[in-house]
Amino acid sequence: MNMNHKRTELKVSAIRNGTVIDHIPADNTFQVLKMLNLDESSRQIYFGTNLDSKKYGKKGIIKISNKFFENEEISKIALVAPSATLIEIKDYEVTKKEKVNLPETVEKIVKCFNPKCVTNIQNIPTRFQVIEDHNGQMKLACHFCEKTMGEKLIEFL
Ligand code: CTP
Ligand code: ZN
Repeated sequence: MNMNHKRTELKVSAIRNGTVIDHIPADNTFQVLKMLNLDESSRQIYFGTNLDSKKYGKKGIIKISNKFFENEEISKIALVAPSATLIEIKDYEVTKKEKVNLPETVEKIVKCFNPKCVTNIQNIPTRFQVIEDHNGQMKLACHFCEKTMGEKLIEFL
């Protein structure tokens, strides 16, 4: 362990303009990248995972140049990484920093895992209520078939 409290280098480079998604649960970093289609993007992207964090033990971070997220994408991030902080950077300065918020309802972006659900049979947009189970875990309750699914079952459309 490094005991001489020297300031060490930033683990991931600073960006000029764009968005930083910080405090992602380490295990979900790749899921967030994929969900936002960043694995197919041609933008400049830096990311790190299993980085040390005082608050979260291990965290992931993603920095995307010249990208600013819309509300729908922010809801998606909140579903997979509820602890995430969204930071906007303009000309190297932090211009906005906020925790992502779980929405009350999720429309269209998530698939119902129940194959018999009407949304999987007819062309009906999905709709879920965001609820907490008795363990405080976030769940999505389908408006149509009433089945609930936890984080592991969530599949984005
Ligand atoms: N950041 C960046 N490019 C910049 C400015 C900041 O990538 N031009 C990143 C930093 O690496 C950090 C995050 O944006 O991950 C927040 O920046 P800042 O508020 O300056 O950092 P801290 O004060 O260390 O934030 P915190 O303690 O909340 O992690
Ligand atoms: Zn359903």
